[in-house]
Amino acid sequence: MSFDECQAALRQQPRRWLVTGCAGFIGSNLLETLLKLDQQVVGLDNFATGFQANLDEVKSLVTPAQWARFHFIEGDIRNLEDCAKACEGVVHVLHQAALGSVPRSIADPIATNAANITGQLNMLVAAKDAEVKSFVYAASSSTYGDHPALPKVEDRIGKPLSPYAVTKVVNEMYAEVFAGTYGFKATGLRYFNVFGKRQNPNGAYAAVIPAWAGAMLTNDTLFINGDGETSRDFCFIENAVQANLLAATATDEAQGEVYNVAVNARTSLNQLFDAIQAALAEQGVSYSQTPTYRDFRPGDVRHSQADIGKARKLLGYAPTYTIQDGIHEAMPWYVKHFRGRG
Ligand SMILES: NC(=O)c1ccc[n+]([C@@H]2O[C@H](COP(=O)([O-])OP(=O)(O)OC[C@H]3O[C@@H](n4cnc5c(N)ncnc54)[C@H](O)[C@@H]3O)[C@@H](O)[C@H]2O)c1
Repeated sequence: MSFDECQAALRQQPRRWLVTGCAGFIGSNLLETLLKLDQQVVGLDNFATGFQANLDEVKSLVTPAQWARFHFIEGDIRNLEDCAKACEGVVHVLHQAALGSVPRSIADPIATNAANITGQLNMLVAAKDAEVKSFVYAASSSTYGDHPALPKVEDRIGKPLSPYAVTKVVNEMYAEVFAGTYGFKATGLRYFNVFGKRQNPNGAYAAVIPAWAGAMLTNDTLFINGDGETSRDFCFIENAVQANLLAATATDEAQGEVYNVAVNARTSLNQLFDAIQAALAEQGVSYSQTPTYRDFRPGDVRHSQADIGKARKLLGYAPTYTIQDGIHEAMPWYVKHFRGRG
């Protein structure tokens, strides 16, 4: 099924969805798309790294009737009762709640383990008991660990390089075991550096694109870890949203698998710097400082690029945004965000 057909089918027959982590970056974008498609959405979040402001922004972007179809539960995926309550009457689960960031997991592996492993296990149990129709969860490209091959193909993974990566590998192991022992299929989307509006630009654990946009907009020093030739397959949020909706509504044979979600392109940090600087210049923001190069970051893989053939074939996934398109679309949000504070 194409994404257009998928959206048309949802519009025609609205369903009840659960988005965990709905106050975060990816979750709030999923929420926005689903509400715009007139779906009913339950959201679960404990605001660990998410924001009420993200929910308020979604509210401002949908109609009052669409917003009325949203039911928010402030709760914790580490608590099975909260997960069970959130799953009541739900058809599709999009499980996004977790503590992201490799450095955060190195600083506090126990917190990352609790949210990402116990939290996902609780969600799997609750969703299985509620007999939901499909369960999609946020997996990660960090699962490829030290495997050197490029592009990354789903069935060839290496050893994890950080506590965060361990949690994402375990998520996939639990998903496989739930299919084998309970016949409950959960589909993993291995996101590769997703970016876009509402991705948090602040704090020590900010992802590179929002962190650099923030540094440029506040005329702050900007750091590049390593020599700048580290590369990533940056994936605009609209592509990730598409993958979620396609995975949730995929055929039974396509469920229970893991899929790379990216573009199949590779951009170095040095190229990324130029792209963000140019996109902000178009918004009238000039950043003339040169970046400061510092040590490589522990736990980071050197290069990453996804083979997306499996998602194309089994899900009908067809990314519509290149990194350049995505950066152009995302930057005005950051300009507004930082001007709004100033
Ligand atoms: N953004 C990326 O590039 C990327 C890459 C790979 C994987 N992922 C995964 O995608 C998912 C979403 O990431 P994101 O970038 O939107 O991060 P985010 O931090 O913006 O969103 C995560 C949300 O989960 C919530 N949350 C955390 N712990 C919770 C708990 N115990 N109970 C309830 N809610 C909780 C947070 O408050 C937040 O709103 C995560 O699972 C992350 O590991 C993201």
